[in-house]
Parts: sequence; structure tokens; C-alpha cells
Amino acid sequence: MDKVVSGIRPTGNLHLGNYFGAVKSFVQMQTQYDCMFFIADWHSLTTHPKPEDIRQSARTILAEYLACGLEPERAPIYIQSDVPETLELYLYLNMNMYLGELERVTTFKEKARKQPDNVNAGLLTYPTLMAADILQHRAAYVPVGKDQEQNMEVARKCARRFNHIYGVEFFPEPQNFYFSEKALKVPGLDGSGKMGKSEGNCIYLRDDDKTITKKVMRAVTDSGPTEPNSPKPEVIENLFTFMRIASTDETYRYFDEKWNDCSIRYGDMKKQIAADLCATVAPIRERILEYSSDSARLDRIAAHGAEVARASAAATVQEVRHIIGFK
Ligand code: TRP
Repeated sequence: MDKVVSGIRPTGNLHLGNYFGAVKSFVQMQTQYDCMFFIADWHSLTTHPKPEDIRQSARTILAEYLACGLEPERAPIYIQSDVPETLELYLYLNMNMYLGELERVTTFKEKARKQPDNVNAGLLTYPTLMAADILQHRAAYVPVGKDQEQNMEVARKCARRFNHIYGVEFFPEPQNFYFSEKALKVPGLDGSGKMGKSEGNCIYLRDDDKTITKKVMRAVTDSGPTEPNSPKPEVIENLFTFMRIASTDETYRYFDEKWNDCSIRYGDMKKQIAADLCATVAPIRERILEYSSDSARLDRIAAHGAEVARASAAATVQEVRHIIGFK
């Protein structure tokens, strides 16, 4: 079975956009591939050198992903910093990466611009660490969004270059696995664009019914259709997208007809959306709270993941040492 590895950037709590995007894809992929997922806590040090409590935030993320349906028995989940073997590979890969090519990576340039007082070497070699994350398991596919394309280029370059320098066919070139094309794009509640943490237009999987309802009732609308069967402006299309996500087909059709005959009442529609979103989120939220209340269980799951990941990485690093010439 093809190997798949993906890193999870530890940024804040999951929202519906994450859920119907990356997270659902992971849940599906775990049944079709030999998957491993990890929380990239080392990577976060490149931008947040003094995090509050790394362990606890890793547990929070773990609880949320498990609540969404990742099954650690099938697809181990580990925390990057639990697998020190990665660092040895990171070092070897860095020996063959050049300053110029790392400086050209757009995400590096962006972050360097955002934190001019902390353009650290970790930031520069972020893509090499990511390559080590992937190549240590000799993964065939990596599920990533568009923003990770250049980092994936670097990972393939690392693999190719290593194979070339040492005259081996050791590392497969990891391919991008685009989940974003198939994934549902969840709109924001502010009428435009998609749901995203930085936009502040999110429904979080941790939100309770009251919070969700309040957010939905505040969603942007317009003054209503004046002509039968008119095309829907974006803000309204977005409301219908929420119905597509959370409501039954029947409910969707009911409100679609109301739109078409100009008798739609947005207040009623929002109430319906709120109720249906609450019903979608509630079981996930309950599972998040359940996992979150059991640190020992989360630690056991992470420990199991680390064990599997370390075995896989150690086997790779041992062969790499041999190939390089540590005999
Ligand atoms: N760079 C990825 C992101 O920002 C996170 C990540 C780190 C990753 N290592 C990885 C993703 C390895 C896939 C594979 O989202």
C-alpha cells in the first residue's frame, strides 16, 4: 500500500473550513493508504520561538483530529518532536541544499518580511525539515494545499539530489496529493471568501450551540430577491452552501424554492442553518471534550504514534548512514 505522510501545522483550533477540507480528506485517506500524521511542533518554533506549552497545545490538536475521525490504530499520529531521528536526516539533507535555492522559497521570503528581526536559519531550512519529515518514511504521497507546492518541490529536490549524489535509487520523489480540489470550500460568515482563522469568520468545532447560533444569525445577507428566479449574489450563495453542508436536500430545496419565488425570509433560513450546523458540530464537540479530558489517553496515542514513526525513521536513517559512508 502506498505510504502517505502529512504534517499538521499547530495553529489554533479547528473550524468547519478545516473540517470539510483537510481533515475529512485525512479521514478518507486513512482507509485507502498507509497513512501517518504528525503535529509539526518543531516547525512552529521558526515563527514562535517561545511557545506557552508545546505539549498541551499538541494534545489539544490531537484531541480535535481524533474527534474528527482519525483512527490512530489505522493511521498512527505522532508529535514531530517525539521523533529525534528526523533531525539526523534533516542534517544530511541540509548538506546538499544551497542558500540561494532556500532563499528563493516564497514562504521564506514572506516570513522574513513579517519578522525582520528573526530571520533565523530554521526559517530558511523549514523546507528541508519538511523534506526530512516526508523522506524519513519514504512516503509516496503528501496531502497538501496549494500553499505547500514550493516546499514539496524542495522535498523532491532533496530526494533526487541525494539519489544522484550517492548513485542510489533510495528515496522516492514524494508526490502532491491535492485534497483541496475535491474538498468542500466552506465560505466565511462575513459574506465573502472562505472560512479562515485570520478572517475571524469561523465556526469552530469547539463552539457551543449558543455561539454557533449567534454567529450564524449575524451572517451577512442582502435585501432579498426582487425578481423570481434571479441568480444568487455571493452572500446568499454562501448561505445555501451552509445548507448544502449541514442540511437535508429537502430543506435545501425548500429554501431554494422560496428564493426563486421571492418569498424567502433570511431570518428563518438562518435559524434553520444554525440548527443544522449545531447538529453537525455537537457530536464532534462532545468527542473533543471527551478526548481533552483524558490526557493519559492522548499521551498513549501519541506514544504509540511515536513508536511507529521512530521505527520507520530509524530504518531510513540507518540506510542513509550506510549510503553516505558511515560503515
Ligand atoms: N508546512 C506544512 C504546513 O504549513 C506543515 C508540514 C510540516 C508538513 N511538515 C510537513 C506537511 C510534512 C506535509 C508533510 O501546513
